[in-house]
Amino acid sequence: MIPLLSHKASHLSGTATIPGDKSISHRALMLGALAIGETTISGLLEGEDVLHTADAMRAMGAQIEKDQSGLWHVHGVGLGGLHQPDAPLQMGNSGTSTRLLMGLVSGHNITASFEGDASLTKRPMNRVTKPLEMMGAAFEASEGGTLPLTVTGAQDVLAIEYELPVASAQVKSAILLAGLNARGKTTVIESKPTRDHTENMLRGFGVDVETKLLDDGRLAVSVIGEQDLKPCTIHVPSDPSSAAFPAVAAAIIAGSQIHMPRIGMNERRTGLFTCLKEMGADISFENEREENGEKIADITVKGGPLKGITIPEARVPSMIDEFPILAMAAACAQGTTHMTGLEELRVKESDRLLMVAEGLKACGVELEMGADSLTIHGNGKPPPGLKERGAKIATALDHRIAMSFLVLGAVTDEPIEIDDGAPIQTSFPTFISLMNDLGLKIESAA
Ligand code: S3P
Repeated sequence: MIPLLSHKASHLSGTATIPGDKSISHRALMLGALAIGETTISGLLEGEDVLHTADAMRAMGAQIEKDQSGLWHVHGVGLGGLHQPDAPLQMGNSGTSTRLLMGLVSGHNITASFEGDASLTKRPMNRVTKPLEMMGAAFEASEGGTLPLTVTGAQDVLAIEYELPVASAQVKSAILLAGLNARGKTTVIESKPTRDHTENMLRGFGVDVETKLLDDGRLAVSVIGEQDLKPCTIHVPSDPSSAAFPAVAAAIIAGSQIHMPRIGMNERRTGLFTCLKEMGADISFENEREENGEKIADITVKGGPLKGITIPEARVPSMIDEFPILAMAAACAQGTTHMTGLEELRVKESDRLLMVAEGLKACGVELEMGADSLTIHGNGKPPPGLKERGAKIATALDHRIAMSFLVLGAVTDEPIEIDDGAPIQTSFPTFISLMNDLGLKIESAA
């Protein structure tokens, strides 16, 4: 456990280099490992989650190295060429590694076991095992369908058509990745569009992926199996989900102005920025451009007063990881912020709805939590902070809960202590130094 303390900061200023996008980094390593030849990746996120994916792909035969200039080189094994790993694959805290790799293994005639930490071991895996079983894979899971579990891939992978019961890019991606080895067309239908990095990157590797808007408004994403992946060069954009933390920190502290170049602007990821704008934040996007099928832009955020908003449910998938940090902005805003359709937050790295509600209450914020909703009442001033001596925010192995409350500590009169900052390494290893360079005051509380 690494307890951390965040003290009141005067304002934020400067330019920040946000690390690479986590979702895109996982996919770059996985698809590079399926291509024959060398894929080069710049800007790869070197957080623990992505390093678990790299280790797993190595254990299944890919050669993956980082050179002295920071570029990553992946020599793939070719579609269908993954080796059976000798030992269980260690997934740490990473749901994305686990679910996407379960898809990859399911499409290969190999057996692999998956193990994870105390947080990952609680997360539901049935959502992926169910469609992957339909494709011919077999699973031996722990009680409740959770990790540790063992997957035996299909000998003949069946192409399926599957409607997602939950809006999940991880489930969609697992099916599409298994479908790469199926004979015929695998289709995933989604009623709420989720991040499409898998589709975009497959196209970059030369695979035909079809996205069709159905008459009823649902989206059908299809891949025809047995197409070879051609190696390519990938520039990973900076992660908008990580940029969210400095963005909110700057937005809630008057007099702040920060600049963040090359942030991923995929429309299925930018819900937080839309909300902040509606709340009255001063955010501008410059040099909008596209690289590797992904939109990027340079972002400037200035501090100022915010007001409460109601977030439309349709926006939830495009900011699924950003509710904890949005809640911190809502706690500082004038008026009520209402969020619904948040049932998926209960099964993230922690029960995020609960952890946010309990933490904010301890900091003196008025709120109501429902089964899938959160209503936060702000009075236009920062909340008081942790009044009780020795009180700490519980983070439950959740990096985004940890980072969110450290951001809030920059505005509360009382400093905010979190019980464990170690999980920040999973997604944003440079978080503390980057935030402190911008003007935050985060230090060890040990
Ligand atoms: C991710 C998808 C989201 C998100 C996660 C990363 C991905 O999960 O919460 O951090 O890379 O596909 P779900 O697909 O389960 O919503």
